[in-house]
Amino acid sequence: MALPMRSLVTDPARYLQTFHLFLKNSTEHQCMWEFVERQLPAVIASIGTGKSTINILSVGGGAGEMDLQILSKVQAIHPGVTINNDVIEPNAGQIIKYKERVAETSNLENVKFTWHEETAYQYESRMSAEKKSKKWDLIHMIQMLYYVQDVLATIRYFHSLLEAEAKLIIIHSSGTSGWETLWKKYRSSFPLDSLCVYISSADIKRILDSAGLKYQLHELTSHLDISSCFIEGSKDGELLLDFLTATCEFSKTAPPELKHQVMEELRKPECSEERDGKVLFNNNLSLIVIEP
Ligand SMILES: C[S@@+](CC[C@H](N)C(=O)[O-])C[C@H]1O[C@@H](n2cnc3c(N)ncnc32)[C@H](O)[C@@H]1O
Repeated sequence: MALPMRSLVTDPARYLQTFHLFLKNSTEHQCMWEFVERQLPAVIASIGTGKSTINILSVGGGAGEMDLQILSKVQAIHPGVTINNDVIEPNAGQIIKYKERVAETSNLENVKFTWHEETAYQYESRMSAEKKSKKWDLIHMIQMLYYVQDVLATIRYFHSLLEAEAKLIIIHSSGTSGWETLWKKYRSSFPLDSLCVYISSADIKRILDSAGLKYQLHELTSHLDISSCFIEGSKDGELLLDFLTATCEFSKTAPPELKHQVMEELRKPECSEERDGKVLFNNNLSLIVIEP
């Protein structure tokens, strides 16, 4: 009997495996590093003016790759300040990797790390139970808003924690990306549960506009090499398909007709381009900088 389709987030170990492969096959972090080099310095220069301590909150910080890049820019632009870097991250495996990365990185003497092994919502509930509302100079949410139940409430809550000259940064898949095309068409066929909601930056933009928040939006160009998805029996191809569809073992559990349609869709110009014999999925991102 065919196995039922189930959401990838129900298997944290496989989710991590697919996410690492996604990072390896995509320019996801490279395009974010470019943002850190080119656009982030101006944002960072505008926060924490004249303060001896800068407070940063990373929501869904993962294994810390981007967090440490951001921290090195904050150190360069505000030399000598003390930095409190708090991380909200529910996946224990990611926190272990984050701690290992910190231990291997030099020049972090002036940074105090605190990890909160919980979801954004659990953090909010805990703070409210403890009657705490600590304010932050920089809050970032990088590729994590897919995993919250109420995007507007989450943005509103963290926005309310900004200091007067602070910024809230969101990096999220763009409304012009292949993700948008694939998910708008097939979301109802994928095994979505309440743990993962596909939204693009176009949806986030609508949410910010309806909430009356002030922001700037920049587009970052990125692609994901999905050529292996078209090689019969490729292990990497199967894992990438899981990541693209947020489905555990999509190749084995999807009805043949759905699998056929998704494979066709992935090759279409609305999702991918073929270059140098490779199929490159449009993984463009949006960077949103929200004012206090
Ligand atoms: C796609 S990863 C991004 C990690 C990192 N920000 C990066 O860009 O490399 C999403 C992260 O959000 C975390 N996450 C999932 N649900 C969450 C929630 N409700 N609140 C906070 N973080 C969550 C996951 O464990 C994962 O580490």
